[in-house]
Amino acid sequence: MTRTREDFIDDLTLTLLYLTRFNDSEGSPFNEIAWKNYAFEAIKRLDNDDLIVNPKRGMIDGCKYAYLTEKGRKKARELLREFGAEDYPLYERFDFRTIRPEEGEEAAKIEQICFPPNEACTPERIKERIGVASDLFLVAIDCENDGKIAGFLNGIATDEYKFRDEFFTDASLHKEDGKNIMILGLDVLPEYRKQGLGRELVYNYCRREQARGRERLVLTCLQNKVKMYTKFGFVDRGEANSSWGGEKWHEMDISLSVLRPA
Ligand SMILES: CC(C)(COP(=O)(O)OP(=O)(O)OC[C@H]1O[C@@H](n2cnc3c(N)ncnc32)[C@H](O)[C@@H]1OP(=O)(O)O)[C@@H](O)C(=O)NCCC(=O)NCCS
Repeated sequence: MTRTREDFIDDLTLTLLYLTRFNDSEGSPFNEIAWKNYAFEAIKRLDNDDLIVNPKRGMIDGCKYAYLTEKGRKKARELLREFGAEDYPLYERFDFRTIRPEEGEEAAKIEQICFPPNEACTPERIKERIGVASDLFLVAIDCENDGKIAGFLNGIATDEYKFRDEFFTDASLHKEDGKNIMILGLDVLPEYRKQGLGRELVYNYCRREQARGRERLVLTCLQNKVKMYTKFGFVDRGEANSSWGGEKWHEMDISLSVLRPA
């Protein structure tokens, strides 16, 4: 089917924004930013279609950059496939999506591989959590390996601001429309580590929860992971109110609400 000239300019503009995007390290690293080109009308149409967010929508001295929305990212990936062009290797290989109920067993096994026995959540608790908050489990699927889960990130929603260990053990604390997410585990299988998958899980999760209107993600981690989460944009709040596994934890959080215009 032939596209109109206008539609083709829009598709090319979106694809170019997607391919040249980078992380907004001065604002929120998980928001992907791209410099706009000069097809102003195309930018306006992409903005109106919610494929990008123009931070100064409608203003004459508009910004030089735009944020890609989840919808825009998805459409750009479809266009790349249509054009027969390559995506970033991570996106060629992995699919990021919500966990399926039948994947509970697999996720529970990964948790036991990734964490020592005193830190890992038991298979029963993982499955119980999936039962009440499956949409807060984000999995990275290896498309080149029969749909195997390579890693996942999970949490539960609440209106509370501080972490407490009961979030690990009591899935009934989950409040579907809670403003904050207590992150309960980031797991990447050893054979998939050091390729950026952990970071991508966190960024995808942040963008997804931001789009759902959540305010904040809160997590606890050991001292040796503080630097990693700081790179992801989290702020270290000092010692956490947690004695999980008999260890000392840091509480860290990231704000989702102040970083992008509605
Ligand atoms: C921690 C973990 C999730 C990282 O996953 P990964 O896919 O290897 O991470 P990435 O490749 O996305 O790395 C992102 C950044 O974090 C850093 N990082 C990764 N693992 C780290 C670790 N164990 N300690 C400190 N920094 C680490 C990387 O160097 C990288 O930074 P760079 O881009 O400047 O090089 C993974 O090693 C894992 O599942 N470990 C066991 C479970 C665990 O500890 N989870 C976190 C609990 S709070």
